[in-house]
Amino acid sequence: MEFSIKSGSPEKQRTGCVVVGVFEGRKLSASAQAIDKASKGFLTEVLRRGDHEGKAGTSLLLHCLTGLPSDRVLLVGLGKERELGESGYRKAVDTAIKALRTTGATEATFFLTEVALRKRDVAFRIEQAVLGIMEGLYRFDRMKSKPPEAKRALRKVVLSVPRRSDIAPGEAAVRRAQAIAEGVHLARDLGNLPANVCTPAYLAEQAHEIAGKHGLHCEVLEQKYLEKLGMGAFLAVARGSRQPPKLIVLEHRGAKKKDAPPVVLVGKGVTFDTGGISLKPAPEMDEMKFDMCGAASVLGTMKAAALMKLPLNVVGIVPATENMPGGNAVKPGDIVTTMSGKTVEILNTDAEGRLILCDALTYAERYKPAAVVDIATLTGAMVIALGHVATGLFANADSLARELVHAGEASWDRAWHLPLWDDYQEALKSNFADIPNIGSRAGGAVTAACFLERFTKAYPWAHLDIAGTAWKSGHDKGATGRPVALLANFLAKRAA
Ligand code: BES
Ligand code: MN
Ligand code: ZN
Repeated sequence: MEFSIKSGSPEKQRTGCVVVGVFEGRKLSASAQAIDKASKGFLTEVLRRGDHEGKAGTSLLLHCLTGLPSDRVLLVGLGKERELGESGYRKAVDTAIKALRTTGATEATFFLTEVALRKRDVAFRIEQAVLGIMEGLYRFDRMKSKPPEAKRALRKVVLSVPRRSDIAPGEAAVRRAQAIAEGVHLARDLGNLPANVCTPAYLAEQAHEIAGKHGLHCEVLEQKYLEKLGMGAFLAVARGSRQPPKLIVLEHRGAKKKDAPPVVLVGKGVTFDTGGISLKPAPEMDEMKFDMCGAASVLGTMKAAALMKLPLNVVGIVPATENMPGGNAVKPGDIVTTMSGKTVEILNTDAEGRLILCDALTYAERYKPAAVVDIATLTGAMVIALGHVATGLFANADSLARELVHAGEASWDRAWHLPLWDDYQEALKSNFADIPNIGSRAGGAVTAACFLERFTKAYPWAHLDIAGTAWKSGHDKGATGRPVALLANFLAKRAA
């Protein structure tokens, strides 16, 4: 998709479709007013007839307006003017792109980017428009036997800004957003692929490919070497599977000072989570192909960081494995020794994410990191706590938590800070080993984070539980690509 920035009048655009907003109560936005005037009150007439109310989520396509050089005008409902916020704005972009897809327009000019959003500048509106458009155009039909009918597709989008002085910051925002959108796209594709295709070996291959294309350094540690390192917890999870585990390491060496301490991202890469011997129930088990979305977000963010040429050292670490039952699988009650030396009693083989992450977190120590952030579809309890809106955030350093909360707000890929107080650690007691791999059911997302915290004493660390935000269920089942935007924003701020 080609994006460009322009400052101009909506009634003068010679393009396939001009996209303008209408507020609820049939109130025309400034750009809609300009079109109304040029078409001698045509929009006012259409609204008066009751064909469009300006309600959020609605749109109306108009053709061949007299006095206008553009082929079409798309009216997009913005909801109540006083209530328009970030989510409403994203929804309007989404509504617009859904409507545009059904037309034959190959070019469109968006004036939605001109509506005022409280406390948000033009760069935010442009960035969110690009991300929203790319999200709306995304399709995953790689696994269909016939490609869907090729229709004339949107190729070019012009985003309008109010002033000429907005053009340069607008263009910078487009470039940034396109890099992030590429990362999101990759994360969604990897998440959506079925687990018989997207195996640990496939993830490793993809990492090599990204590295080759974007100038990253890539290394994949094989089972033999993981044994040497003493990753007893990670390997315990992999035991039940025919697919060999992989520890994938990607490095973006962008810092001016070559040996500057890196930010390390660790992504849970369980390519399928059956639960193991503590087998999960059948309903919706297919969705456990998404249990590698943390890994996918790390690969996507590494790609975005490379495309943005961030002057920062970033390391991505992905422990990748399946979690399967089998004759050789780890059993409830088994005790394993982690790379850190701590022993873990595996009381539930379905609490596997923390087992693979704890060894990856210990491995991260060798980078003497400035900060470590892990990203994982870790607990069902997280979905109960925050639903599908906010990612759960835990940290052993408040300043790092604040940075990530801000990055989430700035990129509208939000996270919410939850407590990691010592009081919660009491749930982690084992009669036989140093710690069990499960705590209490109550506060399950917190006790899972507490488990990880035991392995992160050497650096500032944060944990993002994306169990509720990494994918959607039901009618539009699919990976979201979250939290690539949050992570990219976090890294970009660190680099600046
Ligand atoms: N991958 C799951 C977490 C999950 C479940 C994410 C449902 C999204 C939707 C994780 O490995 C898991 O199974 N966690 C268990 C932990 C429990 C056994 C302590 C859970 O949340 O039930
Ligand atoms: Mn599990
Ligand atoms: Zn899992």
